[in-house]
Amino acid sequence: MNNTFSVTLSGSDVASLQTPLLVVLLPSDPTIPATLAELDKHVGGAISAAINQRDFRGSRDEILFLSGVEGGPRRVALLGVGATSAHSWRRAGALAARTALKLGTGSLAVAGADFSPAQVESLAAGLHAGAWQYLDTKSPPPEAERKAPVASAIIAAPVSPDSKTALANGIALGTGVSLARTLGMTPGNICTPDLLAATARDVASRHGMKYTELDRAGLVAEKMGSFLAVAQGTPQEPRLVAIEYSGGKAGEPPVVLVGKGLCFDSGGISIKPAASMEWMKYDMSGAGGVIGAMEAVGQMKLPINVVGVFGATTNMPSGTAMNPGDVVRSQNGKYIEIINTDAEGRLVLADLLSYVRRFKPAAVIDAATLTGACVVALGHTATGVLGVDQKLVDEVLAAGNASGERGWQLPLWDDYSELMQSDVADVKNAGGRWAGAITAAAFLKEFVGDYPWVHLDVAGTAYSETDLGFIPKGPTGVPVGTFVQFLRTRCGN
Ligand code: BES
Ligand code: MN
Ligand code: ZN
Repeated sequence: MNNTFSVTLSGSDVASLQTPLLVVLLPSDPTIPATLAELDKHVGGAISAAINQRDFRGSRDEILFLSGVEGGPRRVALLGVGATSAHSWRRAGALAARTALKLGTGSLAVAGADFSPAQVESLAAGLHAGAWQYLDTKSPPPEAERKAPVASAIIAAPVSPDSKTALANGIALGTGVSLARTLGMTPGNICTPDLLAATARDVASRHGMKYTELDRAGLVAEKMGSFLAVAQGTPQEPRLVAIEYSGGKAGEPPVVLVGKGLCFDSGGISIKPAASMEWMKYDMSGAGGVIGAMEAVGQMKLPINVVGVFGATTNMPSGTAMNPGDVVRSQNGKYIEIINTDAEGRLVLADLLSYVRRFKPAAVIDAATLTGACVVALGHTATGVLGVDQKLVDEVLAAGNASGERGWQLPLWDDYSELMQSDVADVKNAGGRWAGAITAAAFLKEFVGDYPWVHLDVAGTAYSETDLGFIPKGPTGVPVGTFVQFLRTRCGN
């Protein structure tokens, strides 16, 4: 990872905090909290004046700069949290750290009313996200224009065992999210299947997890004709990776996370139009989400068994590539007619969904940048959530809501499976024009084993096409938050 970032708690009075930037976080229509009374005096009553004159109203993402304090915070800014929810604190923390990043202060402190442990956790995760930068492939500007990365942050909050645990959990989540974002941002010629596998191996070895990796020969031995059909067009070695984390009781069925890891998706022979094709480096975001979630799980030492699985390759047009009309045999024995080589993610996932049966999963959640149709339906705002086990669907929707990664359910009625029937094979890999996000899930359903399953289409939510203020244009870290929140709820942590 290219940035190291630390967050600490401080229980001392904010007026005397030695920091280049103090960001005061206040909700809508604020009153000045007791914790800031001393600071307000030091700045000549500027905070209470800004509130009373309604120069500052605490609305979401609002920022007002005040002058700083000699011998204390050198700069003071008020930042609006808006209506408070778990996610609003994460967002505020991220915007605070991004403000420090833009100023080049190198560090910052955040304060408000006494933060609860839950708020400390959200703030820590948010600060981590705001401090994230991808600098690996950009030359640094001349010395005079250089801005310091944000290396550390202080959260002004009462120090207690609970707030310390919350801080550690927030940092763990932040680290996992940042790892997923870095992998997403990394160009496809650098973020290869090999790099995804090496990163997963590193996560596994640092946290004592079992690591399994299959190459092309391994996929052949597993009879994964569906995954191999995608990989046959590229000279790069495909990788199937499984990381097993045993934090729960021995023999307890694990939750299995499955990710699509297309390090680049050109469409293959059914090649995509050139415009915006560069975004297809993000087509590994499901796999990046699995790796990021495993990192967070390892740091949190969650008392649950978890398996992270992904399939990594690239989808390329070439003399060895699969062609429309080809029929391949997947690991579960079903024959698939290739209608469109650009519907490749589902071909990889089909074999992964068969592969994970060996873990006897308690539940399987897959995440994939699977369809443009999902982006058409839900934009970049919500993840498409599909499944037939309504209990599990509800659990995943709740986890998404709680982590600020909203999902929206689309129906997966049997009617949609009819659209995937083939004349020559058991199923075809692409339906017609309509309900593309749903027919993709209907295809996956054919390969799901005897376990509860939910599919997340993160095609719109894994990256943002615009700067959203609290998060820059580019990878968002979705679905790491959903995965981790789901696991924590499952093990009551
Ligand atoms: N990776 C794409 C889906 C995608 C599109 C993700 C836009 C993010 C933004 C996927 O492999 C794909 O190409 N899907 C096709 C399926 C179609 C050929 C049935 C699509 O959505 O057009
Ligand atoms: Mn595709
Ligand atoms: Zn794809």
